[in-house]
This record gives sequence, structure tokens and C-alpha cells, in this order.
Amino acid sequence: MPGILLGDQFPNFDADTTVGRINFYDFLGDSWGILFSHPKDFTPVCTTELAFAASISDKFTMRKVKMIALSVDSVEDHNVWIKDVMALNNSSAALPFPIIADSGRKLATLLGMMDPDETDREGNPVTARCVFVIGPDKKLKLSCLYPATTGRNFDELLRVIDSLQLTAQKKVATPVHWRPGDKVMVLPNIADDEVTKLFPNGVSTKEVPSRKKYLRYTQL
Ligand code: BEZ
Repeated sequence: MPGILLGDQFPNFDADTTVGRINFYDFLGDSWGILFSHPKDFTPVCTTELAFAASISDKFTMRKVKMIALSVDSVEDHNVWIKDVMALNNSSAALPFPIIADSGRKLATLLGMMDPDETDREGNPVTARCVFVIGPDKKLKLSCLYPATTGRNFDELLRVIDSLQLTAQKKVATPVHWRPGDKVMVLPNIADDEVTKLFPNGVSTKEVPSRKKYLRYTQL
């Protein structure tokens, strides 16, 4: 993905949104953040994505993650579309997170969110389905980029955030399909003699043909 790399300082910016003009860093405060773009308001997959994201927004809040969306539409369009999005949840409540209006495509271009293969009905380029997770230190912790034709899995994003927040605190990594409460893996760069003090619940090592002792599991 072009642009910002993992570990880079995420750029600060000012933007017009459905809750007024914001400064991104002020909006984030000392929380985690998830900034996600969609191609266009009033399109089917985008509507399902934002409706689902709205329906689980309390789960992001519980994890101290501020949500914010972005597309190349105007604030006026966002405000009309939001009612459709919430109607999909049979709700007339406000969308629980702001949407950035980037009709000039300046921010989307800066952040590498544009999809070269996708245009709107007028032939104007639109944003891909880009996701950035930003840590409280304002560094990029995760990015992913889906094409317009593939909707994202916001439950998976919550799972990823659980892993990011855990591995920011402990010297572990989370294995395939990990869920909170499952065993985790000791980081490969931790020497065996450090393991006992770091993981008082013990570490089990899976024997493998190579005899290398790298599959080290622990329960936190
Ligand atoms: C959609 O949200 O359904 C969509 C938007 C742009 C291109 C393809 C699909």
C-alpha cells in the first residue's frame, strides 16, 4: 500500500466532517483511532458496511478506539445518506461516528486511499476501502486496502484491534484465528531464559521435526 507505512507517524490534518470541522489529532486525543474510507455515499456495499460499523460502535468505544469514516462526497450528501445507513439498522439515531467530506480528494490522495480502477457515475475517481488503525502515540499500527467491490469484515477489525492492544503491552504475538482469552505465542526474539520471568503461567513448546523450539505457547 503506498503512502504511510507501519510505524510511521500518522499525518495530522484539518477536515470538514458531519460533526463540523475537526483537527484529527484533537479528535483522537489520547485514544486509539480507526479511519476508514468508502468509495461513495448512496452505494450498496458502502451502506451495509457503515450500517454494520454503526451497530458495533459501542465495541470500539469499549476498546477506547475513536471511529471516523471518509469519502469523496460532501457533508450535505453524507448527512442525507446517513439516514439511509441508519435505516438499514431500523434506527433513526445519529451515526455514532463522523464522516469526513473529501470531495477535493486531497486527503484521500495524501493518505494513499484512491482506487485507480474505480470511478463514480460522472467518471470521477473514488476512494478504495482503506482502513488505518492509529495508536495513542499517533503511529500507524495497521493498514488494509480492499477494492470497492469487496466489503470489509468489521468484526475482524475488532479482533485485530484486540491483538494490537494486547501485543502493545505484552511480549507476545497472536496466532491464526486468535480470539481474546486464547493462548498466545511468545515472541521469537525472547530468549528461553527470559521466558519464566515474563510468563509466570508457564510456556509449552510444541516439538517439531526441525527440533527448533519456536512454537512457544502461553496463557496470559
Ligand atoms: C458499493 O458500495 O456497492 C460499491 C461502490 C463502488 C463500486 C462498487 C461497489
